[in-house]
Amino acid sequence: MADRKLIAGNWKMNGTHADLERFGAYAELAADAPQQVRVALAVPHTLLFSAAERAAGSRLGIGGEDCHANENGAHTGCVSAPMLHAAGASFTILGHSERRADQGETDADVKAKAEAALRAGLDLIICVGETEAERDAGDAESVVGRQLAGSIPECNPARLTIAYEPVWAIGTGRTPTVEDVAAMHDHIRSALAARFGEAGQGVLILYGGSVKASNAAELLSASNVGGALVGGASLKIEDFRPIVEAAA
Ligand code: PGA
Repeated sequence: MADRKLIAGNWKMNGTHADLERFGAYAELAADAPQQVRVALAVPHTLLFSAAERAAGSRLGIGGEDCHANENGAHTGCVSAPMLHAAGASFTILGHSERRADQGETDADVKAKAEAALRAGLDLIICVGETEAERDAGDAESVVGRQLAGSIPECNPARLTIAYEPVWAIGTGRTPTVEDVAAMHDHIRSALAARFGEAGQGVLILYGGSVKASNAAELLSASNVGGALVGGASLKIEDFRPIVEAAA
C-alpha cells in the first residue's frame, strides 16, 4: 500500500467568517507537510467560498460536509454538488453518522448524493461506522460491510476515500483499540478489493472518532489506516498540527 496519508478536518456546524482569519495557519500547515501527507478541511457551506479563496494555490484541500442528490430545484435549505464545486470545493464528506442519525440518511441516499458529487467533479469521503450496540452484538463488520455495499456508487476508486468512524467514538474521547481499528480497516480493504479489484488497494481508508494529538500516531500506524477524519481537534490549529505531524 502507498504510504500517502490524508488528514482531513471536519468543522461540522462550527465557524463563521471571523474564523477564516486563522486559515493562513492551516494553509501553512498543509504547505509544510511532507509530500505524501495531504491536508484538507471540510467546512460549513457558508464558509466554503471564502475558505476556498484563501486556500487557492496552497496545498490545503477544501470540501463540503454534505450535498443534495439533485442538481437544483425546489429543495429549500439544501445545497447541491454543483454549488459546492462552484464555490471552490474539491471534495465532500457524505454519509457522516450525524447525518445518518439526525437527518435519517440511508445508504441509498448516500449513494445518490455520491453520484451527484461525482457528476459535479467532487471527490468523495464516504463515512461508515457501527453504533456501540452493534459492536457489542458482534455485528460491527457486517454493519460496515452493508454500509459500504449500499453507499458507494459505481465510480473510479481514485476519487473515493472511506472514513471508518465508529459512532460511539465520535466526540466522546473514547476510541477502539488499535487492534480493533486494524481489524476493521482490513475488513474494509477486503470489501474494496472485492468490489474494485487491484484499484481497491489504493483507496485511502481514514479512521475517525476522537483522534487527537495523544492518540494520532498510534491510530495512524494501524494496518490499512490511510489517515484521519478529525472533528473537534480540527477546530484549533494547535490541536490539529500534531495530528498532521503524526502522519508524517
Ligand atoms: P471527533 O469527530 O474527532 O470530534 O470525534 C470526528 C468526526 O465526526 O468526523
